[in-house]
Amino acid sequence: MPEAAPRRPLVVGNWKMHMTVAEARSYIAELGPLLPGHEAVEVGICPPFTALAACVEELRDSEIAVYAQTMHEGESGGHTGEISAPMLTELGVDGVVLGHSERRRDNAETDRALSEKLPAALEAKLRPILCVGETEAERDDGDTERRLRHQVQEALESVADESLPDVVIAYEPIWAIGSGRSATAEQVQEAIGFIRALVGDRSAPAAERVRVLYGGSVKGENAAELLAGPDVDGALVGGASLEAPELAAIVAAAARISA
Ligand code: 13P
Repeated sequence: MPEAAPRRPLVVGNWKMHMTVAEARSYIAELGPLLPGHEAVEVGICPPFTALAACVEELRDSEIAVYAQTMHEGESGGHTGEISAPMLTELGVDGVVLGHSERRRDNAETDRALSEKLPAALEAKLRPILCVGETEAERDDGDTERRLRHQVQEALESVADESLPDVVIAYEPIWAIGSGRSATAEQVQEAIGFIRALVGDRSAPAAERVRVLYGGSVKGENAAELLAGPDVDGALVGGASLEAPELAAIVAAAARISA
């Protein structure tokens, strides 16, 4: 039996529509000293577009990665207000969150568009974090797996099997986002195990290597429990990530689990 490929845990703070450039700079100055000793965990932040360049500059000598919160699938063109993958790469951005439920809700982002955004991000050497997750009604109706299957399969349709491990998937049940009501550790492991199996339907080696995160009301105090499942490779954190000590506490919890 070949040894299972290790998956380095990943904790990413999604700032959403928060943080001016000045606030971002002081956040980074605060976060840096809180993180040493957590090399086992990869850490990232997702500032709004306006703070990306400042964050890349502040983190030039750091291991902390910078992710954009969305991008357009095209390289350039008549798409007012949009940003392309090469524009992000030029800034020195490391990755991009794609398909967040708030963008699906507010900006009509579709699985079809995502199936073009993922290859465009990979082509530009950006690490995509693909967000998937069911509504509360879908969970209540027993439709969670159907929803996840559709989202994962369609978004990854045009990604080559050998590139699947370069994608990160975040399971973010919509009812748990910003609600203070996280999924249970069992629900998290079950859904993430299912997502890994979906990747396995494409490629068994890719399923061993692809990282799948949980997002939805993760905080310092519940991270150890939520991230403990064997298939759970870290967290995509919203509200709690706006406080540097909270993000650092979640990173510390992920480091303890992986130790
Ligand atoms: P909260 O952590 O605020 O629930 O947000 C989760 C999220 O949407 C991360 O992308």
